[in-house]
Amino acid sequence: MTPPRPPSIALAPPPSVRVRAPGKVNLSLRVGALQDDGYHPLVTIFQAVGLSEDVVAHQVPPGSGVSLSVTGLQADVVPTDETNLAWRAAVALAEHVGVDPDVRLEIHKEVPVAGGMAGGSADAAAALVACDALWDAGVPRADLVRLAAGLGADVAFGLVGHTAVGTGRGDVLTPAMTRGEFHWVFAVQAEGLSTPEVYRTFDETVGGPAELDLADDTALMQALRAGDAVGLGQVLRNDLQGPALALRPELQRTINVATEAGALGAIVSGSGPTVAALARSRQHALAIAASWTANDACDTVWCTTAPAAGARVVAH
Ligand code: C5P
Repeated sequence: MTPPRPPSIALAPPPSVRVRAPGKVNLSLRVGALQDDGYHPLVTIFQAVGLSEDVVAHQVPPGSGVSLSVTGLQADVVPTDETNLAWRAAVALAEHVGVDPDVRLEIHKEVPVAGGMAGGSADAAAALVACDALWDAGVPRADLVRLAAGLGADVAFGLVGHTAVGTGRGDVLTPAMTRGEFHWVFAVQAEGLSTPEVYRTFDETVGGPAELDLADDTALMQALRAGDAVGLGQVLRNDLQGPALALRPELQRTINVATEAGALGAIVSGSGPTVAALARSRQHALAIAASWTANDACDTVWCTTAPAAGARVVAH
């Protein structure tokens, strides 16, 4: 005999949701000529790294609106008003779902601010996932990715994570196959660089080609598939490195110190000023970190591994 079914229980929405989203490094970043919309076409290979942002979305009484606080690395320079990308993400999701944007967002930062590692974009990606869960909205993944792309070029990657090829503005993503774990060290500078300014310097100095060829990254994709860190280190590429160095010449020394410490490759991460060095192992990563510190080549050093997962709920 089947036992009587228990009465159905309507689950109360959680009082809060914590979501973790990764920072990124561009293993290859090829930039085309400036378009009429103010953006540059890109062919880039993103890799999500173990430096991450946590966004906690808390229930608040109806009609409270959005509020936001920030703690952690360089928190004092992050805006806590409606200009914050996570705030804008909450509003965009609420509009999409047709609910009032009532939420208290708490951001805990680990990814450098204006560092070329998409920390703000990670916050926005995490806020989308956190508010979706908090409001029990059940927005399909594809819609979240579309909303993300509307917020900024790197936000979609913060949702997806792992390793992916980005085209368009960097927001049209195709997953890339990788094997194993890569060891990275990041040299963080206290003062960030403005991404628009780096792109402007790119236009004024080098300028991009009218056409970008996907095939140019074949060797890099092979190294990723083989888990070949030595091969990967040899083909790292960033078209924004020259402009970032033009704006911050001292970053060249940071790159040189990593190279002298045996880094498999060392490049400016995205639009900088963070420098990323690829290491052979965790121990080698620590040695590069020690070298940067000993040579006073940066303000903070982080060792981590990659690839890392995209935005995901870690606790209620
Ligand atoms: O989209 P997001 O706000 O992250 O971009 C910041 C700025 O970086 C843009 O306003 C634009 O100046 C520049 N950018 C670009 N081409 C891209 C991505 C960003 O010119 N593909």
